[in-house]
Amino acid sequence: MDNSPRLAQISDKKDVLNFCKNTFSWGDYIHEVWDNWITEGNLIVVENEEIPISMAHAGFYPMEKMIWIEGIRVSEDFRKKGIAEKMIHHFEINAKSQEFKISRMLIASENIPSLTLAKKLGYEIISQWNYYSLESKQISSQNIDMSNSCLDECKELDVQNHHFVESWRWIPLTNERINKLNSENKIFCQKTNNKTIALGIITESESFENTIILEILSGIEPENMIKFVQNLAYEKNYSKIRILTELESLPQIKNLENKFPFYLMQKKLNLQI
Ligand SMILES: CC(C)(COP(=O)(O)OP(=O)(O)OC[C@H]1O[C@@H](n2cnc3c(N)ncnc32)[C@H](O)[C@@H]1OP(=O)(O)O)[C@@H](O)C(=O)NCCC(=O)NCCS
Repeated sequence: MDNSPRLAQISDKKDVLNFCKNTFSWGDYIHEVWDNWITEGNLIVVENEEIPISMAHAGFYPMEKMIWIEGIRVSEDFRKKGIAEKMIHHFEINAKSQEFKISRMLIASENIPSLTLAKKLGYEIISQWNYYSLESKQISSQNIDMSNSCLDECKELDVQNHHFVESWRWIPLTNERINKLNSENKIFCQKTNNKTIALGIITESESFENTIILEILSGIEPENMIKFVQNLAYEKNYSKIRILTELESLPQIKNLENKFPFYLMQKKLNLQI
């Protein structure tokens, strides 16, 4: 078998989806993102007898000098042969040739094969995130006081240690990024008696169907912010809400589904050969 990755083509979709159906206990999401990833580029596969048996995608962020590696899948019969490693190396070499400094990926904390793989390749855990899902719903918003002018609150954030989650990619939250998000009215803060009690970023996912993402950056009582997003999703006809936060727990809200812990993993590319 030739392990060299090649760029995926539209016609690979059927073969790839064949081995990306029941990857996890809940299924898989590759069918939702395949078309966008093909358009975006940097979607690769490895073949066996001219049939794709693995895939992976990378997003390139020249401003941040970062690549984001995602959707690594190897068909069950071809695992433990070094294919995932080969695909990750392919992206890292490409990134280094453009003088990128970091490579990142997100791994569920229970996914031992992937964590072992990432650690073997020099990735380190830089933070732990929790993921919650919630259905959109119309609720009374009378008492929900949300504001879009939050630049002062953002200045208090230690940007070094914060990230912006854009379509499931964790991007460093630079001051430029804050200004851009603010001008697009995507940053929200919730105040009580002039005191900010929650700060978050609300985005409509480009890759995932029907999804609004709420990233809670900080908050002591983010309950109303979550309710605000439920309403917003309802008004905008989105059915799914995904909440991402480093906070260890969220308030009890009806239909707020189980949390899934994830690790954000990072490798400094310039230190590696
Ligand atoms: C995780 C996955 C991509 C690994 O693919 P793979 O091609 O089998 O991995 P490789 O053969 O390149 O393995 C490289 C290293 O990863 C680690 N690894 C891979 N599979 C492992 C397993 N089942 N248990 C423990 N470590 C494992 C090992 O350190 C291995 O190095 P070694 O062979 O020297 O021990 C594959 O199991 C898979 O598709 N899983 C389902 C999808 C998934 O979890 N994707 C990642 C989402 S972040």
